[in-house]
Amino acid sequence: MKRVDDFRLHFGKQELVPIVIGGMGVDISNAELALEAARLGGIGHISDAMVQTVSDRHFDTRFVSDKLKLYKHNVASSDKSSVQFCLTALEEATRNHVGRTMEAKRGDGMIFINCMEKLTMGAPRDTLRMRLTAALDAGIDGITLSAGLHLGSFALIEDHPRFRTAKLGIIVSSSRALGMFLRKNARLNRLPDFIVVEGPLAGGHLGFGLDWAKYDLHTIVTEVLAYLKTEHLDIPVIAAGGIFTGSDATAFLEQGAAAVQLATRFTVTRECGLPDKVKQEYFKASEDDIEVNTLSPTGYPMRMLKGSPGIGAGIRPNCEAYGYLLDAKGNCSYIDAYNREVALHPDAKKISVKDKTCLCTHMRNFDIWTCGQYTWRLKDTTQRLPDDTYQLLSAEHVFHDYQFSIDQKIMLPD
Ligand SMILES: Cc1cc2nc3c(=O)[nH]c(=O)nc-3n(C[C@H](O)[C@H](O)[C@H](O)COP(=O)(O)O)c2cc1C
Repeated sequence: MKRVDDFRLHFGKQELVPIVIGGMGVDISNAELALEAARLGGIGHISDAMVQTVSDRHFDTRFVSDKLKLYKHNVASSDKSSVQFCLTALEEATRNHVGRTMEAKRGDGMIFINCMEKLTMGAPRDTLRMRLTAALDAGIDGITLSAGLHLGSFALIEDHPRFRTAKLGIIVSSSRALGMFLRKNARLNRLPDFIVVEGPLAGGHLGFGLDWAKYDLHTIVTEVLAYLKTEHLDIPVIAAGGIFTGSDATAFLEQGAAAVQLATRFTVTRECGLPDKVKQEYFKASEDDIEVNTLSPTGYPMRMLKGSPGIGAGIRPNCEAYGYLLDAKGNCSYIDAYNREVALHPDAKKISVKDKTCLCTHMRNFDIWTCGQYTWRLKDTTQRLPDDTYQLLSAEHVFHDYQFSIDQKIMLPD
């Protein structure tokens, strides 16, 4: 019987354990978690979501308060078109986050950064170009382009000296999306180094509609592998979404995937950036506590725990401090939903917005508990302690469980 450790992910001459810890913003897949994956010979992701906030939290910078100071006069206005990111601040924050993570890297693995296209930041092209360039400058091993089709993202960095040597990959949820990406980028003569195929059971934003349950990762991986074969393309495919045990992972590797990308099981590790109290909520969750909804202003369905404190909160939009989801015209669907509720309840001291959430504020504060579909199984991966809490795991423990286990077994901690 095979196990994950019988396989290796090959990037040119480099051989890696075929385990990737997926990007989880905002700072959920933090440097500590990514560094463990690299130390153990796999691939870890940091995320560049809300990187200025992340830099403030770890490096004593003041990007958020400086930006808020600059736009304070606009806080009560519903027109956010004047709110812009300072590109040099964005560059510095990215360099802090990436540079210090890479300095701390040990072992034979790699560290990638997850860049979501849907973080349009008031000026989609300029800010994304700066995020990608600064990450490459700061020495990131690779970039995973996510949450969006990224049809023009490669072109934004085609002049960068590391454009052809850094590992660049994309996340897709269908062979159709992959075909679109490849056709659009054909003129660059630069294929992606890897393709993450993310199915409907993943955490975070989904590349599916509310009919996600009709889709299945094995089928999509088969379609993507067949598509690559017809096109005579040899690009490693990384399967993601709902891979909960070492045996699940092995099945994808036997099917032809080059690696697996995992996230949910690492949310309850000590290294993971979620506060410990939130990790306990993940452990406690039952299947009924998990939903896919349309609360995210990005327009993509998102999976989360129904008990997330950010659901139904009616806070004033915080775009002057954050503003990561503002489009090129300064719009965000949360602003519209908030203004509608204020107009409907002019005398209310506190309002509730039910259909959208201020994702920047709530993700920053860990108040939207996004999670994979199998979060309800996390309680079976650990021990219950005498005080009724669940024992947190080490990232190494979970990584090795995926790497070495067989027979659908899950190794419990001592
Ligand atoms: C808490 C959490 C946050 C996530 N955030 C992101 C993100 O910011 N960007 C992204 O591309 N994927 C995100 N994902 C998806 C993961 O990177 C990964 O592909 C997927 O969840 C793997 O499935 P699994 O969680 O069932 O193992 C997130 C997943 C979780 C659980």
